Amino acid sequence: MVKKLMIGMMLMIFSCLVSNAYADYPPAYEGRLLFTSYCLICHGPDGKGNGPLSVKMNIKPADLTVTVRTRSDTILKKIISGAGRQTITGRDRHNLISQAMPEWENILSEQEIRSLIAYLRFISTSKHKLMGDPEMGFKLYERYCQACHGLEGEGDGIMTSLIKMEPMDHTNPATMSGLSNEELVQSIENGKGDFMPAWKGIISREKIEALVSYIRLLAN
Ligand code: HEC
Ligand code: HEC
Repeated sequence: MVKKLMIGMMLMIFSCLVSNAYADYPPAYEGRLLFTSYCLICHGPDGKGNGPLSVKMNIKPADLTVTVRTRSDTILKKIISGAGRQTITGRDRHNLISQAMPEWENILSEQEIRSLIAYLRFISTSKHKLMGDPEMGFKLYERYCQACHGLEGEGDGIMTSLIKMEPMDHTNPATMSGLSNEELVQSIENGKGDFMPAWKGIISREKIEALVSYIRLLAN
């Protein structure tokens, strides 16, 4: 009886682990959705500070594509959460950031704030626009690309343990920013090297563009 219960519990834990591994969006992807929901109203769709509410505000929302570059993750976390006094480089948060920026400590979890920071890093470093729907891209990547590229895009998918190959690491911002959207589309359509398959005629152009957008959000 006890043993059966134990096995049952272990199976439950195991299935949680498995389903979590698949349900977890990469941080910048998740951050983009959270940003749209909580931040866009002031900071605008591109983070440039031109959200619909900004015209009515005396203190203008920051252009995050500029300011975020000079801020560490730790400082950003403090700015966003508003947690504690004496927080930012030893100074009160409000010496640096006015009350016009809400404090999110009790609204967003630590993980959500981490995801937001990943997305802020994306919008302040990526030269490339998202050309398609990353949600669609995520679903396709999970099903057809992770076999070689790994779910998080690090190039360590299950196939690499069977066959010697080095799929590109999609999380490397330096290599990724050197490639244009169109170059990525071409590689996916026509294949590359010995093992990267050509997907032209197998998945539509729209889906390939969705995949490129998803890949962009992996680089962080
Ligand atoms: C009600 C409007 C409003 C909302 C909503 C809002 N912000 Fe802000 N935010 C501001 C304003 C205004 C400033 C500039 C404050 C200042 O300069 O004193 C700011 C500043 C910031 C800064 C600091 C910029 C710097 O100087 O480096 C960050 C980071 C930031 N916001 C992130 C976010 C994130 C992430 C969200 C969503 C979770 C968010 N904001 C939601 C109004 C808002
Ligand atoms: C059978 C393994 C395999 C599968 C499946 C696979 N890839 Fe690849 N991919 C590779 C390998 C290996 C490379 C490195 C090719 C090279 O540079 O020699 C690569 C490279 C790439 C590149 C980089 C091209 C460049 O310009 O450097 C992109 C983008 C890419 N793959 C996207 C995808 C997408 C999207 C999918 C799913 C639709 C996918 N791959 C599925 C193995 C695979």
